[in-house]
Amino acid sequence: MNDDSRVIAEDYAYEVGDSNGQEAAASLTPLKPPSIPDYLQDTYWWAYLHPKSFWFFEREWVVNLILWGNMTRLTRAVLDEMEPQPDRNVLQVACVYGDFSNLLATHLGRTGSRLSIVDVAPIQISNIEKKLAAHDNVSIHHQDSTCMSFPDDSYDETVVFFLLHEQPEDARRKTIAEAIRVTRPGGRVIFVDYHGPKRSNPMRYVMKPVLTLLEPFAMDLWREELPAFMPADISPDQLTSSFYFGGLYQKVVLKV
Ligand SMILES: C[S@@+](CC[C@H](N)C(=O)[O-])C[C@H]1O[C@@H](n2cnc3c(N)ncnc32)[C@H](O)[C@@H]1O
Repeated sequence: MNDDSRVIAEDYAYEVGDSNGQEAAASLTPLKPPSIPDYLQDTYWWAYLHPKSFWFFEREWVVNLILWGNMTRLTRAVLDEMEPQPDRNVLQVACVYGDFSNLLATHLGRTGSRLSIVDVAPIQISNIEKKLAAHDNVSIHHQDSTCMSFPDDSYDETVVFFLLHEQPEDARRKTIAEAIRVTRPGGRVIFVDYHGPKRSNPMRYVMKPVLTLLEPFAMDLWREELPAFMPADISPDQLTSSFYFGGLYQKVVLKV
């Protein structure tokens, strides 16, 4: 656990699931800090857990290269969804290398809105604190996306940027359900992630072996449309999908 006071230490001090005041508070029980999920340790240690990973990945141009020059476009696709309204609470589920969170915090700060960021890895928490130290509208939370401790309906908008393809199906489904749970009715959840490209897109033949080797769960998002991992009660008219770079990337906006 990081010492910086901007990390909300109480995030995992209580079991939250019912936010209905004192009666519920009396029944709250202590929780442990989240542990590193197996998939993160086994498959992604080199990208997110090893101290040297920051030296390599924490640069906008590297992230942009990994996304074949689409980082600005995909970041813009998220910012464009954020209506410039005052006093909003926005959640970013999981840290992202590069300038994404900086740009999001700046964008929200213009209208007095706030950004909360969740991550499960303490080393990522330390990094994002340093990276966003200049922003006074940001709070960092050490939590697992599959069982967040925020009460229901806490956020106006929730962003899940390139996390789902890194998670096995069970964790992915739980992350999506949690993102929906913590977003208020009428709010939106914005997912940006990989997608199965069109057959005519040559990137299909480049990215398939790369992802199969390095990011084995990502192929799920090629085989299935992202809404297939959403709770059964989500209806198609709540969803708007956009595709980028010949279909290799997608943005799915869910109106809660
Ligand atoms: C959003 S994803 C990938 C983002 C993008 N590929 C990039 O350039 O950074 C990476 C982050 O997800 C975090 N993460 C993975 N599983 C998580 C979970 N269950 N809960 C919260 N954070 C998680 C990792 O610790 C890591 O910081």
